[in-house]
Amino acid sequence: MMNIAVIGTGYVGLTTGITLAYLGHRVTGVDLNVHKISLLSAGSLPIYEPGLDELMKAAGGRLQFTSSYEQAIADADIVFIAVGTPEHADGSPNLDYLHACVSELIPHLSNKRSPTLIVNKSTVPVGTADRMAARFSEAGLCGLAIVASNPEFLRQGSAVRDTLYPERIVIGGGSFAACLLAELYAPILEQQFEPPSSAPRTAQLQPPAFIAVDRKSAELAKYAANAFLAMKISYMNEIANLCDRVGADVEEVARVIGSDARIGPAFLRPGIGYGGSCFPKDTNALHHIAAAEGCELKLLSAVIEVNNRQRQRIVEKAKQKLGSLQGRKLAILGLTFKPGTDDLRNAPSIPIIHELAAEGARVYVHDPVSLGAAVSLLPDSVRPVVQLEDALRDAEALLLLTEWPMYLGLDAEYLRTVMKRPLLIDGRNAWGKQKRMELEYCGIGIPASPASSAIQPPAALRSVR
Ligand code: NAD
Ligand code: UGA
Repeated sequence: MMNIAVIGTGYVGLTTGITLAYLGHRVTGVDLNVHKISLLSAGSLPIYEPGLDELMKAAGGRLQFTSSYEQAIADADIVFIAVGTPEHADGSPNLDYLHACVSELIPHLSNKRSPTLIVNKSTVPVGTADRMAARFSEAGLCGLAIVASNPEFLRQGSAVRDTLYPERIVIGGGSFAACLLAELYAPILEQQFEPPSSAPRTAQLQPPAFIAVDRKSAELAKYAANAFLAMKISYMNEIANLCDRVGADVEEVARVIGSDARIGPAFLRPGIGYGGSCFPKDTNALHHIAAAEGCELKLLSAVIEVNNRQRQRIVEKAKQKLGSLQGRKLAILGLTFKPGTDDLRNAPSIPIIHELAAEGARVYVHDPVSLGAAVSLLPDSVRPVVQLEDALRDAEALLLLTEWPMYLGLDAEYLRTVMKRPLLIDGRNAWGKQKRMELEYCGIGIPASPASSAIQPPAALRSVR
């Protein structure tokens, strides 16, 4: 059991801290945001992340929160940094929070006699850990503050599962860091813990790989991973747009190419483009980091451009179906950048709604978790509604922007009754094949009458489909 401090209690810091406390470590979460700290100290989570509350309750007295670095650092064996690294207006990474955190740490580390491992979980430009180490050395902490990188790969909405059952744990640093972190993460590496009821262990689970590399490679690998996933999405968005032109079905194309193990089936779902606090900022950041080194990442520029353009597709589709949008009532279902989170950072829904409102549509929006937070981001003319039916009633189309399960379960007969025109414009290709046939349906790269639904393989081959 170790003493851990986690600086920054956002999506990453909270999940890390709560999970480590659940696994038996003593954890103190530190945040400058006193409102968050008072909520957390009272046992409430300031974010929506499924399953995290169960772990928090189970962690009990091993978990505490404070705004005071002094209190948290004094006994810490390991300090995790998980502060935000947002983007500047030009897309370059803003490290102000990280620098402020290092400045706060220095005086408290100076009071200690044994080495403390400072582990950076924030996504940062290559060389940041080296520069942090240099700052600690300049402050006379050589040998007392050991810096490592431990990039985070969790996804919002499945953060608990991704943390308890990761595919890999990556450490950038020397052998002191690798040994201490292997010990810290032993319950996860060896899968020696009682799974919480909200995230049971699956039978086929493989234990994670423990990958120890140098600090710069760890830092670059984090950006490279996000950019690669973003590239898969942008590529499929372009293929989907081509499918729309030629009458092919992008889901069948994805099924074919995804069955090649070299490509894999994940992240081949087209739609309104990727959003969130990471893919957009991290692709921009990597672009800047490379450009600063005189290295032009052409593929990445295209990934970013395709994603920005893709938001426009659903507006075009609404106009193709309805003609002018002036005065037409549209129901927008879902605002968050993906289901399972309350996060609206870089959600594609927001620019899409602005565009629809600018076209004169009467826009009604619904989301199960983020409606309150969304109000300040929406044009004044847009109506946020708590009751889904208020959005659907007499609407001439509904646009699915986030595939929350509650929307996918909507009954076709109900939609026919409540809407003026039961037109589903599916920005996530998320509605099942059955509903697509029952109502007027328009997806991204999905033909009006799917050709493949008529094609059945010979009976003997059906089991291998
Ligand atoms: P967040 O904005 O949700 O949380 C950051 C927290 O840090 C905030 O609560 C803020 O008040 C606090 N903070 C800022 N400066 C501080 C300081 N000097 N001292 C103490 N607290 C301070 O951010 P997040 O989404 O958790 O992301 C954190 C980092 O992890 C980013 O670099 C991000 O790119 C990376 N990351 C995020 C995710 C994700 O899914 N959100 C996944 C992988 C990596
Ligand atoms: C992503 C990565 O998946 C995590 O590994 C990483 O740790 C994290 O970014 C980060 O660095 O913050 P996250 O942003 O939570 O996680 O969500 P994803 O599930 O990756 O989805 C990102 C966006 O891509 C969403 O808007 C989603 O709708 C979109 N997406 C995803 C698609 O459009 N198509 C797909 O096939 C998959």
